[in-house]
Amino acid sequence: MSIPCLAENTGSKKFSGQQPYFNHEIYGCPTVVKAGHNGTVKMKQSSKTMRTINKPPERKENKYFPISPLILRTDSSSDFKVYLYHNDQYVLYTKERESFTPKLKNMLYENGTERIFVPFEQKKEYDNYVNENFETILNDAQIPIKERSRVFLDTSNNLIQEIFDNNLPSGVTKGYFEKVKKIVHDTLHFLSLKEAIENIGKLVSHDYKTYSHSVHVFTYTIALLHNHNFTDQEKKDVGIGALLHDIGKRKIAKRILNKPGRLDKDEWKIIKRHPVFGTSLCSNLSLSHLSLNCILFHHEKYDGSGYPTGLAERNIPFPVRYLTCCDVYDAITSDRPYAQAENAFNALKIMRNHMHGSFDMNVYKELVTLLSNTGIA
Ligand SMILES: [Fe+2]
Ligand SMILES: [Fe+2]
Repeated sequence: MSIPCLAENTGSKKFSGQQPYFNHEIYGCPTVVKAGHNGTVKMKQSSKTMRTINKPPERKENKYFPISPLILRTDSSSDFKVYLYHNDQYVLYTKERESFTPKLKNMLYENGTERIFVPFEQKKEYDNYVNENFETILNDAQIPIKERSRVFLDTSNNLIQEIFDNNLPSGVTKGYFEKVKKIVHDTLHFLSLKEAIENIGKLVSHDYKTYSHSVHVFTYTIALLHNHNFTDQEKKDVGIGALLHDIGKRKIAKRILNKPGRLDKDEWKIIKRHPVFGTSLCSNLSLSHLSLNCILFHHEKYDGSGYPTGLAERNIPFPVRYLTCCDVYDAITSDRPYAQAENAFNALKIMRNHMHGSFDMNVYKELVTLLSNTGIA
C-alpha cells in the first residue's frame, strides 16, 4: 500500500538528505520512513504498535493549536496544514487542499491520536473551514459527541469573542450579525440533544469572560426552549438575543466591569445601562423584536425590581424569562472579579433561597430539571 508523500519535519531537529516521511498506518507509534522515488511512501507495519498519545508541552510560544482529527471531513479539503506531534517535534501530516480518507481519519483517532495540530498562522483558514462545515460537523453522528461539543464551544466562543473585542463605535457590523445568525442556525438542532448539553456542561470554562458567558447562556436557553412549542424562527431570534445579550458591556469601562470589590452607587448606575447600550449597538441591524427584547429586558426581575424598566411577571416576554434564569445561573457558576464560582448545586440553591422573586419559578424549575437530567447538577 502506498500513500501520497505528505510529511515534512518542522521541529528543531534538522533532517539532512532525503526528506523524511510519516507513517500513517501506525499513528500510535509513528515511524519516519523514507520516500519512494515516485513521491509515495511504502507503508511499513511496526512490529510493536504502541499506543502513544503524544502531547506537546503547553507553552505560550507554541506555534500550533490542537484540534480533533475527527473534525476534518473526508469529502472536502482544507486550506491549512495538519501536523502530528511526535518525539518533541511537529511532523507534517497533510498539506493544504489534501483531504483525509475516512480510514486514515478514524485510524488516527482509534490509535489514540486524539489531537492533531494546525499552525496558528493558518488559524483564519481553519476557522473558515469549521464555519463552513459547522452544521455538518455538529450533526455528524460518526464524530463523538464530546468532540462535537468541543467544536461547538470553540467556534462559538471564537466568534463571540471577536465581536466583543471589536470596539467599532458603529456597533455590531452586518458581517458579524450574519455570522451570529449562522451560528444560531447551525447549532439549533445540536442543542436539542441531551448528550450535547451534558458534554457542553462538562467542557464549559468557569473563568468568567463575557463572550463565553454569552455562549453558555445561549446554550442553556435554547436547550430549555426546545421543550416548548416555539417555532424554529422564535428559537433563532432568542438565540441571537442570548448571544448578544451583554454586548452593551462593550461600552462600559473595564475598570468597572473587572472591579474586584463592591461597586459604588455611580458604578452600579453605569452597569445598569448595558441593556440599553446593547440595543443601541445593534440598532443598525435588522434584529427581530424578540432578539431586541432579550438584550433590553434580560435584567428584569419577576417581582418588578429589575432594570432598565421594572417590568414584572407576564409583562416580561416569556422566552426572555428563560434567558434571565440561565444568565444568573451561569454568572454564579463562574469565577467573577468579586466572587468565586459556585458549583451547580450551590448555584441553584442560592437562586432558590436568596433570589426568590427574581425569576419565574416555573422557568427556574425547568432549569433545575435540565441540569439534573444532564448530570450537570
Ligand atoms: Fe447583562
Ligand atoms: Fe449576562
